[in-house]
Amino acid sequence: MKILLASSEVYPFSKTGGLADMVGALGRALVNAGHEAVIVTPLYRGIREKYPAMRKVDWRFDLPLGLTNVQADLWELNRTGEAKIYFVDHPAYFDRAGIYLENHISYADNAERFIFFSKCVVNLARYLPWRPDVVHVHDWQVALVPALVLQQKIAGWGNPPATCLTIHNLAYQGVFPAEAFALTNLPESIFNTEGAEFFGLLNCLKAGIAFADFITTVSPRYAREITTEEFGCGLDGVLRRRQSVLTGILNGVDYAEWNTTKNPHLVKPFSVGRMAGKKINKLELQKELGLPADESIPLFGTISRLAEQKGVDIQLGALAEMLNTNMQFVLLGSGSQEYERGYRDLARHFPRKVAVHFGYNETLAHRIEAGSDFFLMPSRFEPCGLNQMYSLRYGTIPIVRATGGLDDSVLDWTQNAKFATGIKFSEYNSRSLAKAIRKALVLFSQPKLFQACRRNAMKADFSWDRTVHDYIEVYQQR
Ligand code: ADP
Ligand code: GLC
Repeated sequence: MKILLASSEVYPFSKTGGLADMVGALGRALVNAGHEAVIVTPLYRGIREKYPAMRKVDWRFDLPLGLTNVQADLWELNRTGEAKIYFVDHPAYFDRAGIYLENHISYADNAERFIFFSKCVVNLARYLPWRPDVVHVHDWQVALVPALVLQQKIAGWGNPPATCLTIHNLAYQGVFPAEAFALTNLPESIFNTEGAEFFGLLNCLKAGIAFADFITTVSPRYAREITTEEFGCGLDGVLRRRQSVLTGILNGVDYAEWNTTKNPHLVKPFSVGRMAGKKINKLELQKELGLPADESIPLFGTISRLAEQKGVDIQLGALAEMLNTNMQFVLLGSGSQEYERGYRDLARHFPRKVAVHFGYNETLAHRIEAGSDFFLMPSRFEPCGLNQMYSLRYGTIPIVRATGGLDDSVLDWTQNAKFATGIKFSEYNSRSLAKAIRKALVLFSQPKLFQACRRNAMKADFSWDRTVHDYIEVYQQR
């Protein structure tokens, strides 16, 4: 099949979270499975300099955006064994310090930037001589694409591609003042509660849910959760209406990136049968972060966007209690300043036990995964979550709240004592998390059990080769 993937971030070109990892890996997995996949994404600052093999395409976008026309260029990069990638080049929109925000403030023209990008996606889908069978869009930034395709179909586009929307996170919907709707040049008739309108505002994700041929989200449990009021973020009604085309497909892991045997970020390789390297990674990590380097102290790690979703509040509460025991905690994160302050205070309180690092740092992310004994992910909700799956492969036992993809990817002792891969807790409060940490400490004190759990974790297979077929099945329903 021919699949055009569209996303506002794609690893390794741009990334703020798991969305980038997922789209980059899905592109490769589709190619590996014998399909033609092409990705389109914005050309952000610095990408061209990093990829000099990129070529300008003989293509000029000149597209209506409200009452004006906006122009942009197109670049392409061919990579062997990978999906070809197109970059939409509009410097005023995309050559900026951030992707969505700067200094913690969203860009004021995000509606304009991503509506324009969505129109470029549709333009490519329609006019590229390579005719995609499916346009697969990811999250709110490109969620208007299905409506735009439908509109062009009505206006005479014979046999347009099927559209598939993947919801990576229902909490981010792309909600803008009603005036922004004019930028879409879509008929006013779809600006209603059945379509793009949400309490008088433009809601890009809602338009995607309403008009996409197929909707997927990134774990089976999250697919069920989002049709309930508790997790529906106001869109559970429209999701229930479209439930017959909604599927939950657990994300895979790109083991070419996230592995412990051939990984340039790690101090020492290791694997199920050769665990000595894991110990060295731990000692090096402790040293690197200024903590006492001692193999016998259980080390807990977290790598996260610091957002409400991630359970920061209960984590701070549980750690304040548990750090009185013999344990260490390291954090790599960025996001809300208030949460950063919370972790900073924790580090000040427990200077020999806690190390925090703010900002984005890929090498450190791999090192924390490799060097930690346990990985904490107490999310309030989690569409899929990738870090717990990375942890499994790195022999770092995940401690997760049983929600969304965390529940779908980690097996607790109570579920299966023989094959357990991690520790789960259900209730969203510090006490439950502290109890889970206590269980982890008990596990750590029993080397045989701990090693068995590690082995199970490292052997768990979440490779894309398996998952990709679920997407193909969805595409083939057209
Ligand atoms: P989400 O997409 O909700 O942030 P995921 O678990 O799906 O959560 O994916 C997060 C991705 O972002 C992982 O690849 C993780 O390693 C990475 N990441 C998050 N914060 C940082 C950071 N501060 N530095 C480096 N990588 C980070
Ligand atoms: C979102 C979700 C996360 C998921 C990622 C990739 O950012 O928050 O749970 O793993 O998308 O699908």
